[in-house]
Amino acid sequence: MAAMKRQWWKEGVVYQIYPRSFQDTTGNGIGDLNGITKRLDYIKSLGVDIIWLCPIYQSPNDDNGYDISDYKSIMAEFGTMTEFDALLSGMKSRGLKLVMDLVANHTSDEHFWFQESRKSRDNKYRDYYHWWPAEKGTPPKRWSYFDVDGNAWKYDKLTDAYYLHYFSVKQPDLKWENPKVREEIYDAIRFWFDKGVDGFRMDVIPFISKDIEYPELPKKYKGNFVSYYSEGPRLHEFLHEMNQQVLSKYDIMTVGEAPGITLDKALDFVNEDRQELNMFFHFDLMSLDRDGDEVFWMRQDKWRLTEFKKIHSDWDKAFAEKGWGSMYLSNHDFPRSVSRWANDSPEHWHNSATMLHTFLLTMKGTPYFYFGDEIGMTNARFNSIEDYKDINTINRYELLKQNNISLVDFLENEKEAARDNARTPMQWDNSKNAGFTAEDPWIKVNTNFASGINVETQENDSASVLSYFKKMVQVRKSHLGLVYGKYDLLLANNEEIYAYTRTFESEKYLILLSFSEKETTVEVNEISYNKALLLISNDKVKAEQSNTRFKLKPYQALVYELT
Ligand code: NOJ
Repeated sequence: MAAMKRQWWKEGVVYQIYPRSFQDTTGNGIGDLNGITKRLDYIKSLGVDIIWLCPIYQSPNDDNGYDISDYKSIMAEFGTMTEFDALLSGMKSRGLKLVMDLVANHTSDEHFWFQESRKSRDNKYRDYYHWWPAEKGTPPKRWSYFDVDGNAWKYDKLTDAYYLHYFSVKQPDLKWENPKVREEIYDAIRFWFDKGVDGFRMDVIPFISKDIEYPELPKKYKGNFVSYYSEGPRLHEFLHEMNQQVLSKYDIMTVGEAPGITLDKALDFVNEDRQELNMFFHFDLMSLDRDGDEVFWMRQDKWRLTEFKKIHSDWDKAFAEKGWGSMYLSNHDFPRSVSRWANDSPEHWHNSATMLHTFLLTMKGTPYFYFGDEIGMTNARFNSIEDYKDINTINRYELLKQNNISLVDFLENEKEAARDNARTPMQWDNSKNAGFTAEDPWIKVNTNFASGINVETQENDSASVLSYFKKMVQVRKSHLGLVYGKYDLLLANNEEIYAYTRTFESEKYLILLSFSEKETTVEVNEISYNKALLLISNDKVKAEQSNTRFKLKPYQALVYELT
């Protein structure tokens, strides 16, 4: 089975860093490369293997680096290329791998290519971007994520034409249909691989191919632009070409960010025989607590554990024979995992955070942890629009204001939904600004750093969330069956406990996770075994078990080896 073929990126644990919020060493309130270098021993101590860095390239920061103005240089606020080289060699000497972020669906409007492209209709770079000449009338509607008016076409007076931007007006979409554009991107990828970088996370990669006739949105999409954007006509041709011309020449990993990709399409991206990508992030879980197609609005009723289980069980099945999954509960675009998927009240916070660690580390698929989740960082839940820095929140606030829609409801929504919840600075210790910066941080620090949610306090406590995280990483690393073993769901209809087994050759594990704030007893009689040896528990009460009956404390996580 291809899915069983051993690979370093299947066995590794990934740690994602949002550089702006990790560690400032210059006093400008913004995290930097030297800050990451300074913290490499800490990262190594977690037991993780791979660091994914959100974009660190030159950028005017309209979307915090997801708007690149030069693919081959470093953002001045973050440091220099020499500092990057030092960071990379610091990682290598510790046996850590580096995955960078490739943002190639769009550039910044300040990129040289776009500056040229917009100058005249016959400019050499004109065809690097998507243009619609105004004499053809208003272009067919395209929806934009961050535009204040939700319109993805922006009129540019200079050449009397509209350019396409699926994200902000300062993020024009590249025209991959032009072979020169693809060559430029492959060249940028090679530049970083030749430096020794170990892979790329690829931003909104399913969006790169467009129908360049720009038709009206076909009816079958029922108004859903994300689905339409994610299945452009030449998508798989481009991915395969990139694989053949660049990716396959190096021992690297790729993980696509894949909004819009549904189960039935999963293998088209990661089936080894097709030679495209290694893994991708699906969005089914990220939509679970949202209101239908309204990705930014929370749904009114609470999501159910049976829905959560179904999403993971279905995706596991998609990769059972071929391909490989990626497991994540949070990143820089979504709220903090403990606040979102469990319970961050003081009473349940510890078990909640560690139960979620246990989940990611006992599932099949490479686990991705977002910085700060290892110490159980929580949503910031800002009260005022002034505290938000994210273009997404700010522009939507403006849009609602113009349309006289309740801003009170919106601000309440953002307390749970906003991306800035996950972008507050890393909480290192009890000192000013949690040890992130000596000066004013670019975004407010969550005040709970002073109540134990910081690295220093937790490093000195063997029962802390951080200590558990490290132990649990070792449990995964020392049991290959937790990486490659077959996943089988138990107690499918139970709304309190998520239970499953992992089976690999003669190894078998039972995982029980409570998503309930009450003590819960379950009978696990769908499987048979002689003994259940407890490998780890996140609660002070290790476990209460008699035969097939298990009693779990609120948010308790138990991992057993079965014989
Ligand atoms: C997805 C990235 O993760 C997000 O942060 C960004 O705003 C958009 N893509 C646009 O690049």
